[in-house]
Amino acid sequence: MTEDATLVTIELGERGYPVRIGHGEVASVGAQMAALDLGRRALVVTNAAIARRYAHPLLDSLDAAGIEAGVAEIPAGERYKHLGTIEKIWSAAMARRLDRHGVLIALGGGVVGDMAGFAAACYYRGISFVQVPTTLVAMVDSSVGGKTGVNFHGKNLIGAFWQPNLVCADLDTLASLPTRELRCGLAEVIKHGAILDLAMFERLESAFVTRPERGGLRLTAKVSLSPDTARYSVVRSCQLKGQVVAADERESGQRAWLNFGHTFGHALEATAGYGKLHHGEAVSIGMVLAARLGVLRGDLEASDAQRLEAVCAAVGLPTKVPAGTDPEVVFAAMGRDKKAREGQMRLTLLTALGQATVAADTPPEMILSLLRQACVET
Ligand code: NAD
Ligand code: GLY
Repeated sequence: MTEDATLVTIELGERGYPVRIGHGEVASVGAQMAALDLGRRALVVTNAAIARRYAHPLLDSLDAAGIEAGVAEIPAGERYKHLGTIEKIWSAAMARRLDRHGVLIALGGGVVGDMAGFAAACYYRGISFVQVPTTLVAMVDSSVGGKTGVNFHGKNLIGAFWQPNLVCADLDTLASLPTRELRCGLAEVIKHGAILDLAMFERLESAFVTRPERGGLRLTAKVSLSPDTARYSVVRSCQLKGQVVAADERESGQRAWLNFGHTFGHALEATAGYGKLHHGEAVSIGMVLAARLGVLRGDLEASDAQRLEAVCAAVGLPTKVPAGTDPEVVFAAMGRDKKAREGQMRLTLLTALGQATVAADTPPEMILSLLRQACVET
């Protein structure tokens, strides 16, 4: 078991849970589950590539803790995030005779986590669920907060709020993550700093812009993610997201801040064609556009928008819309956002670095004009 794990507790009363962040955490999952008395029969949901690297230490730890477990391998990728895959998870759970005391363990990124969580939410009307995130996106965002689901006629339109009982984030797994996926995770980390924590934003600025880090995981020819900054990013993101979720689990208020950059981002992702722009890349461009909109509205200093853009660019994230993007198509896609209410677009915007707001009163012509300008600048 790891000695050096940092513990973040998500304060949701009876549904609260520990998030452990450290090195070698995959091998401690069994002991942690046993300590929480989560169940004696489990199914690990993962994909073949992740299983090859990390299933063995996980299964060994479950065995050592007296937890009988099998593996359900699901196909990798966002295009398999659908109900057909959920059915496969349920069938595997039935085949292993998991009952309402059984546990689903998600070993992987956000795709695996969102689906295993949704499968757990419905199986026997809801069973225990453990997140073992192996991407930076999953460590800093998707494994915490209980949003689970699949794509159906649109992204994540079928799902449930279903909190995990335990999250074990193993920083060692980031070593095998492709650089592009690492950068995508940093987009969500930068987002957390931009909306909630100026000190965190400034620490990222220092690590990537002012005194670029070398050593650790390579991000660009000039910039790396050091072990210290990686750990800080995961711990602080889980603390910040945990506080927001504890105060507003069902997104009736401040949780919408976590969507900063996402209304522009989702629309860009959809218009580029899913898979072309990765989610974190779309969020990076979306945050830059949302910050510029804040400046146009007179809510945000231009220098703050520039600082945000500089951090995203420094880690190698895109900050400009892809060449050939049609502003009218992006604008139309933004109107279909989940947050829109009665045709009114609701955008999360910054009022300062570390402070956000949700505004429904931006004139549509202002958004369209910003998009037209951005599409000329590509
Ligand atoms: P992902 O799960 O598709 O993983 C990216 C790729 O990395 C996959 O090919 C995966 O097999 C591979 N991989 C995973 N771990 C690896 C490792 N350690 N080494 C090498 N390869 C590894 O992508 P993601 O960015 O983790 O998650 C994106 C998904 O998460 C989207 O579906 C999004 O909707 C969802 N999401 C959910 C929430 C939430 O709150 N529930 C928040 C953010 C994102
Ligand atoms: N990823 C946004 C949220 O969890 O609310």
